[in-house]
Amino acid sequence: MDVLQAMAARSSTRSYTAEPLTKEELDALLKAGLQAPTATNRQELHITVVPGDAPVLAKLNETLGRGGSFYYNAPTVLVISGEEAFSWTPVDAGIAVENIALAAEGLGLGSVILGCVKAILRGPDKLAWNEALKIPQGYAFEVAIAVGHKDKEKTPHTFDPEKQISYL
Ligand SMILES: Cc1cc2nc3c(=O)[nH]c(=O)nc-3n(C[C@H](O)[C@H](O)[C@H](O)COP(=O)(O)O)c2cc1C
Repeated sequence: MDVLQAMAARSSTRSYTAEPLTKEELDALLKAGLQAPTATNRQELHITVVPGDAPVLAKLNETLGRGGSFYYNAPTVLVISGEEAFSWTPVDAGIAVENIALAAEGLGLGSVILGCVKAILRGPDKLAWNEALKIPQGYAFEVAIAVGHKDKEKTPHTFDPEKQISYL
């Protein structure tokens, strides 16, 4: 699948089968994340690989208190953190997470970007969460992505070029 096809086909997956990722799939996703460009090539991002049955995810879900599973019981969640003091970290994390989402699509996997836990992971208990998620010192949570095999296909979202694009 080429990159334009992957962009056109990608859509957030919110229902996964129990099938785990293979080591090759996981390695390809991690490589895609770390191959993303970073401002001044600082490479200030860190990825923590979290299995879907990790107790820290259950604890996060409980703390979020929304019911259901915030990561839709995907078999793997990748948590992206980055240097807090670097001003481009949020942009770089966004680029990395989309690289991972497109790589997942290219591998026939589903994914959903997860930001809903940001307030918790950056809240008053941040250091404890950082430790539980092996987020390096001086780094903070930026964004996560759940990945697994799609249980249901979904149509990609539409958009409005008239409203969203201007030409000079
Ligand atoms: C920064 C960011 C944070 C997001 N956080 C969540 C989330 O916490 N939970 C969720 O289900 N979807 C989350 N999403 C997915 C969006 O809701 C989704 O991308 C959007 O509705 C468009 O749908 P699509 O991905 O299927 O095109 C997030 C997306 C982005 C870019």
